[in-house]
Amino acid sequence: MKLLVCGGAGFIGSAFVHQRVAAGDEVRVLDALTYAGREENVAGLDVELVIGRVEDPDAVRQAATGVDAIVNFAAETHVDRSILDGQAFVLTNSLGTFTLLEEARRRGVRHLQVSTDEVYGSIREGAFTEEHPLEPSSPYSASKAGADLMVLASHHTYGQDVVIARGSNCYGPRQFPEKLIPVMTLNAAHGAPLPVYGDGRQVRTWLHVDDFASGIHAALVHGESGQAYNVGGENEKLNIDVVHRIIGLTGASESQIKHVEDRLGHDFRYALASDKLKAASGWAPRMDFDAGGLESTVHWYLDHPHWWRPLVDTPEYRAYYRRVYGREPDFAPAEV
Ligand code: TYD
Repeated sequence: MKLLVCGGAGFIGSAFVHQRVAAGDEVRVLDALTYAGREENVAGLDVELVIGRVEDPDAVRQAATGVDAIVNFAAETHVDRSILDGQAFVLTNSLGTFTLLEEARRRGVRHLQVSTDEVYGSIREGAFTEEHPLEPSSPYSASKAGADLMVLASHHTYGQDVVIARGSNCYGPRQFPEKLIPVMTLNAAHGAPLPVYGDGRQVRTWLHVDDFASGIHAALVHGESGQAYNVGGENEKLNIDVVHRIIGLTGASESQIKHVEDRLGHDFRYALASDKLKAASGWAPRMDFDAGGLESTVHWYLDHPHWWRPLVDTPEYRAYYRRVYGREPDFAPAEV
């Protein structure tokens, strides 16, 4: 198969690219290489990298030449950034998806949309099925829900071949140090405060990035056109318990925990039922969060300072960190 992987130099996209190249697929990556997309994430792989934006019809048209399917990972993904400024989210996530859909339809190839559990909103008990209405609560999740609706509308209106894969919270190597696990790992290892939003009793279900990548491929190959498939993790955790585990794995101190002001509109809990994808494809997650998943991820960050240091040693990162946490990042000290 020849795939156009949009956002393939980012965290989840690059995990998918690594898997597909190893499996023998031909891959072309279209990536704007914004703050979270890096050439290094796909370095050494036999892939073609096209630098361009997904909302640019010319870039998309050129990049899509000769492909059998478009897989769209390209997105602004961080909720806290969307609360500070949502414009880039609408541009990349909503208009970008629309632009890719148009190109996929012109070519008559499948469009696989990578989405998130956050489009359903928060759930106190039980788990979301794909039938649940979309009730996003942050600018980020609203932009992703808008994209999902556009994808489904293209199927309804034109009979376009589309599939959506909605994942749980992902963790693993190469995640930008703004999400919970890398932020806590780097702070823990540097003896710095661990900024827990509110009481830390919010719940997330964790899915290893390689399991999400294999779930997306399962949806691409086995998914029925016009359908969404949940790709859920099976490790449900309170945020504060994840932080305790990271403290244990890094030899940090419990006294580093610092409860900070809660995120605006903070979703309490996400949970997905993945029976539909399992029945369609036999997919199941392989990596257990408690039996090696978190540990190997924490060690990856500790062993790869050359990967994360250039990302945090920038004025932009320090400015972001100051805006969200009201202090300098201790693992990226400003030069004096
Ligand atoms: P995050 O990794 O940003 O993913 P999402 O918002 O998509 O779930 O956050 C995961 C959880 O961790 C979420 O409940 C917010 C919380 N959190 C903190 O408590 N402190 C932090 O510094 C960060 C980044 C997240």
